Amino acid sequence: MFGNTREEILEIEKLKNLVDKNKLPRHIAIIMDGNGRWAKKRFLPRTAGHKEGVERVKEIVKACGNLGIEYLTLYAFSTENWARPKDEVDTLMKLLVEYLRKELDTLHRNNVKIKVLGNIERLPDLPKSEIVRAIEKTKNNKKLILNIALNYGSRDEIIEAVKNIVHDVKYNKIDVEEINKEIFKKYLYTGDQPDPDLLIRTSGEQRVSNFLLYQIAYSEFYFTDTLWPDFKEEHLYKAILEYQKRERRFGKI
Ligand code: IPE
Ligand code: IPE
Ligand code: MG
Repeated sequence: MFGNTREEILEIEKLKNLVDKNKLPRHIAIIMDGNGRWAKKRFLPRTAGHKEGVERVKEIVKACGNLGIEYLTLYAFSTENWARPKDEVDTLMKLLVEYLRKELDTLHRNNVKIKVLGNIERLPDLPKSEIVRAIEKTKNNKKLILNIALNYGSRDEIIEAVKNIVHDVKYNKIDVEEINKEIFKKYLYTGDQPDPDLLIRTSGEQRVSNFLLYQIAYSEFYFTDTLWPDFKEEHLYKAILEYQKRERRFGKI
């Protein structure tokens, strides 16, 4: 917590202690938005915002692990983000490689299992091989499942699932009559994982941007104006505290 005063540290501890450990969201998903605006406010290139954003990724992953969150899904790069200027895309890929190289041992030591949501085939070789290595190394870890949504788009995910189901029907692996919600979800990148309980989006935008459309059917949404590079652990605790005040009904009364 470098940079925090003693009072700030106490304030953060206080928030953390207010979180009810018996009512934690099992799965938190985050649309990490606002890196570009964070940089612009400081007259810095957008890439400086992405760099600072990686610091928040480290902090939030650590905080989730310590709290006992079981699944954390981070939206890192969407299928639409390829349309950004090439040098920005290159920087994002470079930051991903650096993050994995620097953090993999720590993540592994902390029993974090890395998964990717999205088609990694389209990624450049270097990020692809680092991702494959990270998945392989952490595959038996159990404490926190860290899903990195990379080249992820929910509509593509659903279409891909439909294609695979059609394939399995065609080759008699499943019967059309068998297809139900439980079977269908297994064909999504999230597989057997529970749906997100809490979906956080930073930076003030209140939209879903092609993220987990099927999985967020009953998620609680938390929107905050805080830009992602400013979203520190105390902001996470605030989001969880807000979640814990909500009454989830799932259609019942
Ligand atoms: C989120 O920040 C990071 C990615 C989408 C990769 P943005 O880069 O979208 O930042 P803004 O929305 O332009 O401020
Ligand atoms: C969503 O943010 C994607 C990620 C956070 C990776 P964007 O900044 O790309 O979304 P829009 O363009 O504001 O909808
Ligand atoms: Mg954005």
